[in-house]
Amino acid sequence: MSKYQEVQQTLQTTQFTWLITGVAGFIGSNLLESLLKLNQKVVGLDNFSTGYRHNLDQVQELVGAAYWKNFTFFQGDLVSLADCQRACEGVDYVLHHAALGSVPRSIENPILTNQNNVTGFLNMLTAARDARVKRFVFAASSSTYGDHPGLPKVEAVIGKPLSPYAVTKYVNELYADVFARCYGLDSIGLRYFNVFGPRQDPEGAYAAVIPQWVAALIKNQTLNINGDGETTRDFCFVANVVQANILAAFSNNPDAGNQIYNVALNDSTSLNQLYDMMKALLKEDFPHVEQHQASYGSFRNGDVRHSQADIAKARGLLGYEPTHRVAEGLHEAMEWYKSSLSGEKYA
Ligand SMILES: NC(=O)c1ccc[n+]([C@@H]2O[C@H](COP(=O)([O-])OP(=O)(O)OC[C@H]3O[C@@H](n4cnc5c(N)ncnc54)[C@H](O)[C@@H]3O)[C@@H](O)[C@H]2O)c1
Repeated sequence: MSKYQEVQQTLQTTQFTWLITGVAGFIGSNLLESLLKLNQKVVGLDNFSTGYRHNLDQVQELVGAAYWKNFTFFQGDLVSLADCQRACEGVDYVLHHAALGSVPRSIENPILTNQNNVTGFLNMLTAARDARVKRFVFAASSSTYGDHPGLPKVEAVIGKPLSPYAVTKYVNELYADVFARCYGLDSIGLRYFNVFGPRQDPEGAYAAVIPQWVAALIKNQTLNINGDGETTRDFCFVANVVQANILAAFSNNPDAGNQIYNVALNDSTSLNQLYDMMKALLKEDFPHVEQHQASYGSFRNGDVRHSQADIAKARGLLGYEPTHRVAEGLHEAMEWYKSSLSGEKYA
């Protein structure tokens, strides 16, 4: 039995209270779905800046009334310490995911990104410390590797940040470390590498590449690849991220706490390969995709050329074993993409 299966079994018989910030967003709503299905109590905090009520509605439908009654939602903002304190009341574990994502958004509006991602983070740390939570798990980011050329990325070796977003995510790690030293707050930071899966927003100027491309392919619209398409990423299906969060919160390995971990696959997929994989998965239902041609543009400001994670640390200390490789994740997410992206809402 894997460590994750072991932890899931324990959770099914023991109920804890979890706070998920950013619960109406992509990763937050996936965490919510998994924890409710494990019969856990969940408190959610979100201000709907980039998340959606329809994500929560979808989870409600998926888990059913018996589990949904274990969920309490607060509409509130990280920038308000009082909102963070209210959300942390009686909580065992915090999974802090609320933040303003996107490198380009942060380049356009660094002050807004800083308010949400640094001031908001500090408020959450303070509220979690005062509520004496068991552990504070937070979404860090592979952007922290910045301009360091080494591959695969190992947690201890980082470069200079390439965007305001990357600065905020690195500052999160520094603050978490300082809160452990000064106040004994136990935390774990998870550096995600290009996560994808159901409920990832396909819309808007800052949409992530996978839902944006699937939507463009389904609707037979122009699809722009930044650069020559040979840029690579370690795309990570959201089920692996959920696993990492639950393992991180629950780990009783004495060496596991107050650490940063890469969360990905240790795979390398180019944008061109990704585009081909999507076409192959969609062509049966949408035959027009076979003729679809991507257009190539300039490289995007602040983007790194290659990104791939070393995941030995998460494997060794947390027992993390990704269950989905990229193709499996895309395959599993396809039903959601097809039903959501071809429907009225995104037409
Ligand atoms: N998706 C990825 O590939 C990826 C990669 C690295 C790190 N991350 C991090 O993971 C976390 C979740 O990302 P996601 O992709 O689910 O993004 P998302 O935009 O779908 O979710 C973020 C949620 O946080 C909420 N939020 C933002 N600011 C808030 C505030 N001030 N107060 C309350 N709620 C607020 C939004 O409304 C949204 O529901 C973020 O911290 C992000 O930086 C994501």
